[in-house]
Amino acid sequence: MNKKNILLICGGGASEHEISLISAKYIKSQLEKINKYNIFYVEMTKDGTRKDERGCVVELRKGGILFEAQIQKETQLHFAIPCFHGPPGETGQIQSVFEMMKLAYLGCGPEASALCFNKISTKLWFNALNIPNSPFLFIDQINNENKLKSENFLETEKKIFVKSSSQGSSLGCYFVKNKSDLEMAIKHAFELSPYVLIEKCIEGRELEMAVYEYEGKVIATNPGEIIAPNQFYDFDQKYSKTSKAITNVEAKGLETKDIIIMKELAIKAFTSLKLRHLSRIDFFLNQNGSIYINEINTFPGMTPISMFPKMMESNEHNFTKFLESIIDNNIE
Ligand SMILES: Nc1ncnc2c1ncn2[C@@H]1O[C@H](COP(=O)(O)OP(=O)(O)O)[C@@H](O)[C@H]1O
Ligand SMILES: [Mg+2]
Repeated sequence: MNKKNILLICGGGASEHEISLISAKYIKSQLEKINKYNIFYVEMTKDGTRKDERGCVVELRKGGILFEAQIQKETQLHFAIPCFHGPPGETGQIQSVFEMMKLAYLGCGPEASALCFNKISTKLWFNALNIPNSPFLFIDQINNENKLKSENFLETEKKIFVKSSSQGSSLGCYFVKNKSDLEMAIKHAFELSPYVLIEKCIEGRELEMAVYEYEGKVIATNPGEIIAPNQFYDFDQKYSKTSKAITNVEAKGLETKDIIIMKELAIKAFTSLKLRHLSRIDFFLNQNGSIYINEINTFPGMTPISMFPKMMESNEHNFTKFLESIIDNNIE
């Protein structure tokens, strides 16, 4: 039997470029274990070129063809894995290209990706679906009216987060409790996105769940927990070697009823927003026991410290098998 050709494409050139390379390394090692695919690794570099592991330029062509420039070879791809955190993967752009090429791929489609990548559109959907999330407002520009609105919000809520609408890895995300810091946080948040979300800080526990399709069912794992110093899981706490954040694959001491509610909310979000294959859904549990969804990650991190693969394994589902079944079921 001919081996199927799998494109593993990563990088993207944006702020989470390096992280996506680490996730891609993990996925590659999993694909190699399966030992029945030809893996074509492609990195989209910061200057927009696409290159293979040896640094040779490649092109994606009509009909899902990969063209290797140096040896002038065209290969028909059968399946693609868009391993990006942020653009052009979590934004839905590359999925649109795959759709046009009629190339099957792992993960959410363009629309669900774009909806979930924008923190404002996600929250508007949550509200429409009665999925609890932190109180918020959003602004499209800096003007007197919006300045006043955000100052009033800070005065009411006391502690808030100011976030660029379309960013990840805690970039463009600022914790604000003093009025004197508000203007600068909003200004910086606008430097990274066209819209800015301002939301109430939820004090309590930060929990996350792997939510994925396995043997035809949507599965939500038990929640894991992030314990970050000062309750802000910022970029350094997420990725630096000196991070003081603690991650527990299974959060300790949660009440069963809370776990059940969280799983129901996660599955509702997954199915209603039409997510596909995999996601990580993040929550807050406040000091009064109220549960809020924070956000949906349509291509969760898969670095050695990332929770998604660990939560899946801890739920007795093997990541390699998960990948293999999705690839095989989606290749014609
Ligand atoms: N409303 C909130 N209440 C409490 N902590 C928050 C809130 N929003 C964000 N945070 C903190 O900031 C981190 C990053 O925010 P998040 O919305 O998850 O953005 P990103 O997509 O960059 O991960 C969260 O992991 C959490 O530690
Ligand atoms: Mg987050």
